[in-house]
Amino acid sequence: MAHVLVTGAAGFIGSHTVDRLLAAGHAVTGLDNFRTGRRANLAAALAAPRFAFHEGDVAAPGALAALVGTVRPDAVIHLAALVSVQESMTDPDLNYALNVHATHLVAEAARLHGVRRIVFASSAAVYGDTADFPLRETTEKSPISPYGAAKLASEAILLGHGAAFGLTVRCQRYFNVFGPRQDPASPYSGVISIFDRRYRSGQGVTIYGDGQQTRDFISVHDVARANLLAATAPAVASGVANICTGRATSLLEVVGVFARHYPAAPAVVHGAPRTGDILHSLGAPAHADAALGFRAEVSVETGLGELIRTG
Ligand code: UD1
Repeated sequence: MAHVLVTGAAGFIGSHTVDRLLAAGHAVTGLDNFRTGRRANLAAALAAPRFAFHEGDVAAPGALAALVGTVRPDAVIHLAALVSVQESMTDPDLNYALNVHATHLVAEAARLHGVRRIVFASSAAVYGDTADFPLRETTEKSPISPYGAAKLASEAILLGHGAAFGLTVRCQRYFNVFGPRQDPASPYSGVISIFDRRYRSGQGVTIYGDGQQTRDFISVHDVARANLLAATAPAVASGVANICTGRATSLLEVVGVFARHYPAAPAVVHGAPRTGDILHSLGAPAHADAALGFRAEVSVETGLGELIRTG
């Protein structure tokens, strides 16, 4: 059994990661300030004896180092972040504080208190708008948002600390994650969370553009398992890996699955393509398999079916 500290534990990916760690028999300490996370996401975990929760801000001076020094985890999974690309554009200072400086605080807390491993929530946003598909870890990185830049900088900060001070660092470049507990609140929330909420309430959905755009949609259950492996698998070396399926799914295919479950839903409306959108995104998944033994297992069809049935 390992003891893992999860920052951003009450978030979408964080809460599923906590659940997966607990199910695998590990002890988990969760940290979250509920800026975007929700206590309800931890309903099951809070009833588990191997889970302890601390409400707090990972970016508050001294807070994380104090917690790490007290609980002495074997590994930290650092998921706390400013999660909205859009918000990083309207508030780059906050993006820097939460997505760059906070990462440095995690690296330092780990160094000072002998944490052996850090797993970091990076993003396909580090690649920017490139047409060089599938995106490999070696593909040129050209972030086109403060968010993507912060994720790339954070990878470097953590890998540098890891190499200098002997910690294992795994940077996980998540592609388009979907599944239960994803917040559909903003127009820039993940498209599947928006569609799910609208179909559920009997409303139709709007596709921006012709619907032929594709994404590498990966189930949050697969992402949580990738985090579990990165934090606890034996003999893992430092590095960066795409966390993706390697399969492209178009929005028309996504809507097709919803439409089968909601045959009475209003017809889909097509709007103008969203400014700044990329047409395609697709990752190469081989590296995560080689480094962690991770392969995505949940198809979009299966994952959407579960989301639609259980919410
Ligand atoms: C991701 C980010 C987004 C950022 C963009 C550019 C997430 C969830 N989104 O978007 O904030 O600006 O990268 O780096 O991380 N769509 C519709 N109808 C809707 C909502 C979305 O057709 O109601 C379309 C979008 O126009 C897009 C596709 O669905 O073509 C996927 O959208 P989204 O889930 O936001 O993912 P990304 O485009 O990858």
